[in-house]
Amino acid sequence: MADQIILETERLMLRKLTPDDLEALFRLYRDPVIREHFPEGVLNREETKAELDWIIKVYYGEYGYGLWATIYKPTGAFIGRCGLLPWVIDERQEVEVAYLLDQAYWGQGLASEAAQAIVAYGFDVLNLNRLICLPIPENAASMRVAEKMGMHVEHEIVLDGTPAMLYSIEKA
Ligand SMILES: CC(C)(COP(=O)(O)OP(=O)(O)OC[C@H]1O[C@@H](n2cnc3c(N)ncnc32)[C@H](O)[C@@H]1OP(=O)(O)O)[C@@H](O)C(=O)NCCC(=O)NCCS
Repeated sequence: MADQIILETERLMLRKLTPDDLEALFRLYRDPVIREHFPEGVLNREETKAELDWIIKVYYGEYGYGLWATIYKPTGAFIGRCGLLPWVIDERQEVEVAYLLDQAYWGQGLASEAAQAIVAYGFDVLNLNRLICLPIPENAASMRVAEKMGMHVEHEIVLDGTPAMLYSIEKA
């Protein structure tokens, strides 16, 4: 278990996802409110399993990072998945800070707490030089989390036909 832990904050522990997390992840991915700002909308169990398999095999296996199970330390509850995602945008390799939490835990500063720790992990442990975020303009909460990580808007981009804001931060 210890080698599965990626990082800890005051209230959260981020660990690698495993196949056993399928039902907990699916409970979040089938929620239309949580998935409101995702172009592909809610996912069914098979789609969730395909994403989970991809995270474990390709992201962890080939990149050494990915989305991680986000555990609320006071209770041990699985409350979301947050982490780092590789992208190629305009022929440039980018790494996105991504976050998604159970609605019951919104509004307590938890996404900001996770995101700030992920930025530190990306810069200090993975030695990345630049991180981005890609919220759609309607996702005010996500844009605010990006700002609270110290990111600034670069420009608007279109990803698979959907406009998004490209926020970024460079390693100091
Ligand atoms: C985006 C998300 C992770 C934010 O989680 P959270 O734990 O509620 O965020 P925080 O509590 O850390 O709040 C961050 C900031 O956003 C603000 N905020 C939260 N909800 C907001 C809303 N609906 N509109 C505007 N601002 C909002 C908070 O006030 C806070 O700013 P402040 O500290 O200046 O007051 C959560 O809403 C979520 O999981 N959404 C669904 C998945 C998603 O859209 N992920 C992002 C994809 S790019």
